[in-house]
Amino acid sequence: MAQERSLSHDDMVGMLDWYRAAGVDIAVGEEPVDRFAQRPPMRATAVAAPVVMGDPREAAPAERVAAPAPALGGDPAEARALAASAETLEQLQAILGAYDGCGLKLRATQLVFADGNPEADIMLIGEAPGAEEDRQGKPFVGKSGQLLDRMLGAIGLDRTKVYIANTVPWRPPGNRTPTPEEMALCLPFLHRQVELVAPKVVMTLGGPAMQTVFSTTNGIIKMRGKWSQVAIGRHEVEAMPTLHPAYLLRNPAAKQQAWRDLLSLRMRIEALGLV
Ligand code: URA
Repeated sequence: MAQERSLSHDDMVGMLDWYRAAGVDIAVGEEPVDRFAQRPPMRATAVAAPVVMGDPREAAPAERVAAPAPALGGDPAEARALAASAETLEQLQAILGAYDGCGLKLRATQLVFADGNPEADIMLIGEAPGAEEDRQGKPFVGKSGQLLDRMLGAIGLDRTKVYIANTVPWRPPGNRTPTPEEMALCLPFLHRQVELVAPKVVMTLGGPAMQTVFSTTNGIIKMRGKWSQVAIGRHEVEAMPTLHPAYLLRNPAAKQQAWRDLLSLRMRIEALGLV
């Protein structure tokens, strides 16, 4: 039988360092939970008439054992086919919830799909959920989300008038930037989400979201505040990048530039008769 050894202080510090490097930076319970045993990995397949998937935890024990291993390093073509099969936002959310192709899902607590009004004409696109978003399952609910709410309020908007999503719907471990592979797997789902919401105006938040949506390697400081017509998936829309609220929290002086962008957004939506 394995001998239990009590850990030294150095062992424990080493273990915590390892956890942090692996992206484990919050404790959600007293006891560890083997989530792979709890929920068998299920690979979503293109569905002719997508419906809300059943809870795989309801599978019989024998089926659980037989479930296939999670597929890491998924296939972008499969992601595109799955995303294209969604005819409603609810279907898209269900398909994403069942999709195991992107490794980000394995370390995240839950899918962070969207918040706000799916009927809105204005869509905001951020980068990726952080710790609080991962806990609550909604985008922009942490500190930067609170600032975002104040920014929207300053131009007469709130979450009933906008729809909010991220370029990737799972929190990257330790809040790192999503890798190009992860982005490529999530992008078809973002494209479909934009097509289904069909906003008249899009504002991206921060450099990575701007680079994804505008397909550019330019920096945010150069691009912010400029309107252009972009195709997001098959949806053509006017879009403008602005600074990320998390950046504004770290660099309060930049709020001046963000304020100009917000005023520009306000003028644009007034000109389009959206408010
Ligand atoms: N930052 C983002 O880009 N998105 C969120 O949802 C939260 C923080």
